[in-house]
Order: sequence, then structure tokens, then C-alpha cells
Amino acid sequence: MSSLAKYQAPGALSRQLYERASLVMPGGNTRHSVALAPYPVYARSGSGCHITDVEGEQRIDFLNNYTSLILGHAHPQVTKAVQSRAAMGTAFTMPVPEEVELAELLVARVAYIEQIRFCNSGSEAVMLAIKAARAFTGRPKIAKFEGAYHGLYDYAEVSEGPTPDEWGEADSPASITEPGTPHSVASDVVVMPWNRPEACLQLIEQNKDDLAAVLVDPMPLGIGMIAPRPGFLQFLREETARHGILLVADEVLNFRLHYHGAFHAHGITPDLATFGKIIGGGFPVGAVAGSRRVMSVFDHTGALKVHHGGTFNANPVTIAAGLETMRLMTPEAFDRLNGLGEYVRDRLRRLFRDTGRPAQVCGAGSMFLAHLTSNELIDFRSLSGFSRTNPIYGNLCHKLLEYGFILSPRGIFGCLSTPMNEAEPDALVEALGRALAALG
Ligand SMILES: Cc1ncc(COP(=O)(O)O)c(C=O)c1O
Repeated sequence: MSSLAKYQAPGALSRQLYERASLVMPGGNTRHSVALAPYPVYARSGSGCHITDVEGEQRIDFLNNYTSLILGHAHPQVTKAVQSRAAMGTAFTMPVPEEVELAELLVARVAYIEQIRFCNSGSEAVMLAIKAARAFTGRPKIAKFEGAYHGLYDYAEVSEGPTPDEWGEADSPASITEPGTPHSVASDVVVMPWNRPEACLQLIEQNKDDLAAVLVDPMPLGIGMIAPRPGFLQFLREETARHGILLVADEVLNFRLHYHGAFHAHGITPDLATFGKIIGGGFPVGAVAGSRRVMSVFDHTGALKVHHGGTFNANPVTIAAGLETMRLMTPEAFDRLNGLGEYVRDRLRRLFRDTGRPAQVCGAGSMFLAHLTSNELIDFRSLSGFSRTNPIYGNLCHKLLEYGFILSPRGIFGCLSTPMNEAEPDALVEALGRALAALG
């Protein structure tokens, strides 16, 4: 029997839960990225690289809460650290010693940061970094890349997924705000095309006196994980430095790439950085970090410029889980997992070659994203028709759920966790071959 049979049955628990949820939550949902048509599969528990749903079906998890669970589910040491921390109290109007330890650990690992502050999500971290950049430079605008996702802050959301009728000029993309955001926000966000230095140069020049920051994720998921062309990030570093603009590295998702962080391989020094996901060990987290000079805008003992409160900042449970996770993620653990990432990307490439399917496999480290196209992939617009909006990916996601695998419904996107070895990628690639054949 298919592992979706129980989910699809008229009395399925997931269906019942979704019907109840729809009465008390708009769309029956509280996080759009977990929405699935016609209703989500509700999870009961997770262990290692597996999730068991409410019907009792077990599947291999290649999403890991959108990359945040690098050690998989319920790692025994992380669970123990959380339990013992929780038993000692979970929140105080006082800092706890472990906060200092996690701050020291991250500052020691990421060469370009000297100071750090914790918050509760990647979105908050990006918001704080943008505010810090504005306070430090005294300038109002930021620049970001068309299609890049950086969370929910009004300015960071601009043009995170514009439709072709909204695009505007190729060399000067339109700034498209999300519903609920004042249009005035658009005038403070310069949208740049990824991997097109000539256009970026012009846009930076035109706005140089007003730009506080350029926000950049070196392997942006919203732009299909299309890698930066050689020299592109270095170009951004040089141009921003020339005009006193801060380069803000969004490491929320891509800190997963390397023990020393996503920018390590590129040999450049951003001014500010944002973190989230894996540094919370499975709990809500964010962090903003950077050079001592720039981070001084948060220093309440100096000429305070940027207010940073937050009832649950650096909450002890998150910090305990994050600390244990980071300690377990040694350089060797990263190397092994990234080697497995190389293995799965290679296997996917072979699958597409052997079955004569036009496809390209992007991603790096322990992540993969396959695009079913042979078009040249360079920027957000080059993904048009093959991006997260293409219904093929939703259909593939359902087929793979049926075969016992959890992947994104918005692309052949997934990531690995340390409990995996070659058996899981092997099984996934075999199932993907079957799913593609079944869908034609
Ligand atoms: C690059 C990037 N920045 C920021 C965020 C926002 O993080 P959070 O979902 O924790 O608010 C995300 C979330 O996926 C992200 O991928």
C-alpha cells in the first residue's frame, strides 16, 4: 500500500486536523512554507533522519525544517542538553552563562565577526542588521537581489518573488512590495539582478550616497541556489567599500555550508552578518553579528543608536540546544556531510543524464536544488517557468511523499542531516527517477 493511502482516506487524521485548523486559522495554517495542497501531512514525531506522521507512516526527511536541523531530529545529546536546561528554568530577566559560550563559539568560528547579539528568528536578525547599517551610515536605503528571500521584514521582502509582469527593466528591476507593506518602502530598496555586475555597478553608483547596505546571501535559495559567478562577491565587496556602504552577509540558511560560515570560501570580509536556523539546534533563533565598530550601534553603554529588546532573546533553551549542536558540528562533521552533499548532487546529475532529462543541479555543501531545464541559469529571471511556481514540483513532492521521502513542494530542493549516510541519497535518487517516470 502507498504510504499516502492513509493520508488520502476520507477519515484521515491529517484531513481531520486540517479541517479543524481551517476553522481557527486562516488557510488552516500558521506558516506558509508548510502549506501543502490539498492539506498538509501532520507530523507526530521525528528521530534521526525520519519523521513519523500522525497516521504512523515513516518517511526520510530531506527538508530538516528547511535546513535548520543539521543533526536531524531529536539528537540524543541535544535532547539531553535541552531537558537539563529546561529543568533549571527556561526564561529569566537575566542573561545565562551559556549565552556567553555560544557567542564566543560563533565569534571564534567566523573570522569576520567580532561581536554578536541573539534574537528569535532569521527575519529579526535581518531587520536588526538593516537597522544597524542605517544607524551606522546615517543613510536610508538598502540594496538586495531580485528573487532573494531574507525573511519577513518589510524592506528585506521587497521583490522576493516578483511575477514577470512586475519585473521592470532587466538592468534596473522594479521594487515590488508585499501586500501589507507601504509603497513608500519600495523607494528605499534598490533591487539588483544577481550575477550581473555591470547593472549592479550602475545601480550602486546611482544610489551611492543613500545606500546603507547591500544585503547578500551567497547561495540564495530564492534564486534557485544559482552560485555567484567567479568574482561577483568580490566585486560587491569592493564597490560597497569604495562608497562606505556596508556589505551584509545573510548566513541564516547558508551557515550550514561550512564550519567557518558561508563566506569563508569566498575570502571576503562582510561588515555585518545574520545567522539563524542551525545555530538554534532546532529551536527559534536568530543572531546579528559583525565588526566591533559597526556592532557598537547596539551598545547601550555607549551612544546607543539601535534599540534591541526582545522578551525571549538568547532564551536558555535555544542557547543550550544551539551550543550542543555547534559543538557536535566539528570540522570533520561538516566535511563528512558536505562530502555526502557532493555525492547526492553527483548522483542526481547522473540520473538526469542517464534518463536524458534536461536538468541542472545547483546547491553546495549539504544542499541540493535541481532545475528541470537546460536554460542558462544566471539570475532570478533565468528561472522563469522552472522556479518554485512550476506545478511539476508540487506533483513530484506528492509522488515522493508516496514513496516515503520529504522534499520541498517548491523545487527539487533538499538537504542532508548527519544521521544520513549514502543509503538515504541512493534511495532518494532511485525514487526520484521513478517519480519523474510516473509523472512523464
Ligand atoms: C536566507 C534567509 N534569510 C532569512 C530567513 C528568515 O529566517 P526565519 O524563517 O528564521 O525568520 C530565511 C528563512 O528561510 C532565509 O533562508
